[in-house]
Amino acid sequence: MNTGIEKKKRNHSNHEKHNGDHESKIKIRPMEIDDLAPAFHLGEKLFTLRNLPNLYRIWDEYEIIDFFNSSSDYCFSAIADGKFVGFLLGTVIEKSKRRKYGYLVWTGVQHEYNGMGIATSLFNAFKNKMVEEDVMTIVVDTQADNTHAIEFFKRKGFKDPQAHVYMTLELDK
Ligand SMILES: CC(C)(COP(=O)(O)OP(=O)(O)OC[C@H]1O[C@@H](n2cnc3c(N)ncnc32)[C@H](O)[C@@H]1OP(=O)(O)O)[C@@H](O)C(=O)NCCC(=O)NCCS
Repeated sequence: MNTGIEKKKRNHSNHEKHNGDHESKIKIRPMEIDDLAPAFHLGEKLFTLRNLPNLYRIWDEYEIIDFFNSSSDYCFSAIADGKFVGFLLGTVIEKSKRRKYGYLVWTGVQHEYNGMGIATSLFNAFKNKMVEEDVMTIVVDTQADNTHAIEFFKRKGFKDPQAHVYMTLELDK
């Protein structure tokens, strides 16, 4: 549970940014309870059966609820023009006292706001939090044909991509 002091610290770490080309004011802040439904619906728009079938299968309302419940310190929202336009859900995995991994599990930005640096700002907020937590390595995964996201992650400094295979088994009823 977050103490009042921790909450205050979180509020201080909120930051606002103006995008040069666009007049919108972008704000990145820790995810709040009212963000859960917009984040879920944005994920439904982004992780579609047609474009990202593996992510589509895993994405549901319990993803958001579980992350908010267990890892709210590592979940961030992006607000622009007074609207919810993006999110990042992450967690920390502690393998041992000396080895902590940050895991960026889900991120997404509304199409109309792509290319404005919103995912970059969300990622920077998450990365700063990982530094505070003494995390040594951040890992991320996505499906192999999600070239936009892979390009995005490479630009953020991720390297050494390794193939990850998803398989399905249809069960007869
Ligand atoms: C990937 C995604 C989060 C990027 O969001 P975004 O807010 O548009 O990204 P940014 O504006 O911060 O762009 C950051 C960098 O990635 C590059 N980039 C972003 N989208 C890109 C695209 N579609 N193709 C190529 N490069 C792209 C930008 O050129 C930019 O490079 P720079 O930092 O060197 O200038 C967004 O396209 C998205 O929501 N995709 C669908 C969901 C998804 O696949 N999530 C990841 C797996 S969970």
